[in-house]
Amino acid sequence: MKIIIEKNYEDVSKTAGKIISDEVRKNPTIVLGLATGSTPMGAYKELIRMHKEEELDFSKVKTFNLDEYLGLDGNNPSSYRYFMDENLFNHINIDKNNTHVPDGKAVNPEEYCKLYDKYIEEAGGIDIQILGVGENGHIAFNEPDNSLSIGTSIEDLTEDTIKVNSRFFDSLEEVPKKAISMGIGSILKARKIILLANGTRKAEAIKNILKCDRISTQNPASFLLLHPDFTLIIDEEAYGKSK
Ligand code: F6R
Repeated sequence: MKIIIEKNYEDVSKTAGKIISDEVRKNPTIVLGLATGSTPMGAYKELIRMHKEEELDFSKVKTFNLDEYLGLDGNNPSSYRYFMDENLFNHINIDKNNTHVPDGKAVNPEEYCKLYDKYIEEAGGIDIQILGVGENGHIAFNEPDNSLSIGTSIEDLTEDTIKVNSRFFDSLEEVPKKAISMGIGSILKARKIILLANGTRKAEAIKNILKCDRISTQNPASFLLLHPDFTLIIDEEAYGKSK
């Protein structure tokens, strides 16, 4: 594991943007694994800036997102597809046909999960996977549990995650209780993994990665420690409890 500690969120975002953009310039047909949520928004802004000001070209880039709420279609403003369009795809020269967010309205969701892993494989696998982390250590929607899914699957959201994510909905009741999520195995297949975290809210989850000497399904992020090319980019607040 490599760890980069930055002063604040802005610097975390700039560093992540720089790493991603360097890789895109090196390999214009790169396959990016993307996350939603508050954490990567700054890095996405950086990528948009670099596209507009520094000719960063996404025309041949492919993307796969980690997850989507079950039951939401892409026109729903709370869906992850909508989030990605609004916060990245609509502002860069990516071909939308090359962007993949799990289909929350899939007719046969179980079958669709298997297909999603197949689509990733057919695209040649993910070159760089961007991750955030939940306060409880979840990655994608792989929540602490007695066992974790290897491949993409339908996951139940915990009460805590429902509460935390309700900020993106009009009310708590509107938050879907299930999601389609890439599995721990799907994530670990990426060639390079970058986890971003900022703020005191994430300090416990980060400590549980940095001080971890035994992986546990109760700490899904701990599995990332098995990956040969795993980089943590965090700010001083998120690092706070690990000092
Ligand atoms: C989002 C995802 C989640 C988030 C995590 C942190 O696609 O898979 O695991 O990365 O919940 O969310 P934020 O960044 O909003 O704190």
